[in-house]
Amino acid sequence: MTDPEGLPEVIEMIDGARKIVVLTGAGISTDSGLPDFRGPKGLWTLNPEAEKASNINNYINEPDVRILNWKLRADGQLWANVAPNDGHRALLPLQERGVLHTLITQNVDELHQMAGIAPERVVEIHGTTRKAGCLDCDHLTTMEAVLERVRGGEDDPKCPDCGGIMKSATISFGQALVAEDLRRAQEAADAADLLIAIGSSLTVNPIASVVPRAVRGGAKLIIVNAEETPFDMIADAVVRGSISEVLPRMIK
Ligand code: APR
Ligand code: ZN
Repeated sequence: MTDPEGLPEVIEMIDGARKIVVLTGAGISTDSGLPDFRGPKGLWTLNPEAEKASNINNYINEPDVRILNWKLRADGQLWANVAPNDGHRALLPLQERGVLHTLITQNVDELHQMAGIAPERVVEIHGTTRKAGCLDCDHLTTMEAVLERVRGGEDDPKCPDCGGIMKSATISFGQALVAEDLRRAQEAADAADLLIAIGSSLTVNPIASVVPRAVRGGAKLIIVNAEETPFDMIADAVVRGSISEVLPRMIK
């Protein structure tokens, strides 16, 4: 646990690192107005039923799960015009100093890229909601193009190429990660001299396993999160507090 007094050590650890891998979760986007999943006000904490839509089998087998999901997206309830916050922006100096090796994000909101992190430096390990694809063929388009069809009256839009089910280009439970993304994330963990895990409960695998993997590879570990994570005990520093407030103080 690092209280404000412990912050100088954290700042020194970050200043001294040359190959920093950052792993972010939903907690870095809550101050942009996007709820997380398992925090006190998390989507699933408040509505366990909502977790159903995130399982691929329910999405495929239950048309009304798809119809509700498309309706929420088309009404903009899921994606009001959210913008990056000070937490996203706090990472930019790492890129400017040339010490940001890779930013692995579990988030699907593209707020890191909108804040100015180079897309080629970001691994969106759980995909993105800004695109939509077919579950049966490799048809891929923008989310906006599909929402136009929903707003035009198609409540469960099908693939224009093969008639298959369409879904946001996010990876749901039951779907495999993109092998290339997972490989990039694991290589980053092996190369890191410092891993900073920010705003994640670190409870979803396989991506959470890059944390102990980086430590085994000799990296130092800083965890920034409001609540405990399963890896707090192997961290060199754990920083509690609100990310958009504390991250700008940690990274100069
Ligand atoms: N400051 C600090 N910590 C915060 C803040 C904040 N402003 N807001 C939320 N948190 C913390 C919460 O306490 C919680 O521990 O962020 C963590 C978010 O954890 P989760 O909700 O589990 O989100 P995440 O770890 O990203 O989930 C991983 O699971 O739901 C699936 O695929 C989805 O990518 C997601 C994955
Ligand atoms: Zn198709």
